[in-house]
Order: sequence, then structure tokens, then C-alpha cells
Amino acid sequence: MTHRTLLAGLTGILMLTSVSVMADPVSDEKAKKIGAAAGCFTCHSLRHEDLKDGKKPIGPAWDDVALQYKGKPGAADFLTRVVLEGSNPYSSHWKNKVSGVAMPPNAVAINESDARQVVFWILSLK
Ligand code: HEC
Repeated sequence: MTHRTLLAGLTGILMLTSVSVMADPVSDEKAKKIGAAAGCFTCHSLRHEDLKDGKKPIGPAWDDVALQYKGKPGAADFLTRVVLEGSNPYSSHWKNKVSGVAMPPNAVAINESDARQVVFWILSLK
């Protein structure tokens, strides 16, 4: 191996490492497992197109959540609180787009660290 290829190889490894550190901390599989175990999918679908025709969903599809909050500062902290403590039906963030019922507090079904991981994952959906 020449000096040059060795250097290129090392740079590649360094870049890979930093990408994986910045990348989504939880895998699709793990996030879906946490969500399923906590009962999130009773009210949420993953994708907007999975919604039943002409019917308002109980809660917003998670790719719609990503669209609405992506890039907003503090979104992950804010949404983790809403997930744990429930939403306020009188100040719905999804007026006329979803059922209009409140999201119940989920803290009985999911711990804070799992809630945070799922929220991070939701925000990474495209
Ligand atoms: C009983 C039904 C129900 C369950 C179970 C439920 N949600 Fe929700 N969720 C809702 C509804 C309804 C809304 C819309 C609230 C609103 O109008 O502001 C919502 C909103 C959200 C939002 C967006 C909050 C906002 O303020 O915009 C996120 C994120 C979310 N849910 C994640 C979860 C996660 C994660 C779980 C599982 C731990 C979960 N939900 C379980 C009904 C539910």
C-alpha cells in the first residue's frame, strides 16, 4: 500500500466514524419496536399514505409530524414532553387535521429515554 492510499483509507474511516456518530441514534427496527410496545400505533400510523381514505386519523401520521417540526429548535424536547404528559385538546397542534381528541399521557407506557429516542426517530422520517 502506498502512503497515499493509506492516507485516503484513514480519511475514509474517520469520515465514516463521524457520520455514524451524527446519524440517527436508534434504528428503524428498534424505534418501531418501542412504539409498538408502548401502544403508539393504536392511534398513529407511520406514513400519511397509510391513513384510511376520507377518515381523519386519531393522531397525526409520524411522517407528518416530521414535516411539521423538522428544523424547529427545541422540537425534540417539546415533543418528548407532549408524548409523556399528553396533549391539550383545547390547543391542538393539529386542528382539523386529526380526530380532535387529546393524546393521553404515555408516561405509563414508555419511559423518558425511550420516548426521546422515538421522538428523535420520528423527526428523522422523510
Ligand atoms: C390514544 C391515542 C394515542 C396514543 C396511544 C398515542 N398518541 Fe400520539 N397523538 C395522539 C393525538 C390525538 C395527537 C394530536 C394531538 C394534538 O392535536 O395536538 C397526537 C400527537 C402526537 C405527536 C405530535 C404532538 C404535537 O404536539 O404536535 C407525537 C410526536 C406523538 N403523538 C407521538 C406518540 C408516541 C411516541 C406515542 C407512543 C408512546 C403516542 N403518540 C401514542 C393520539 C395518541
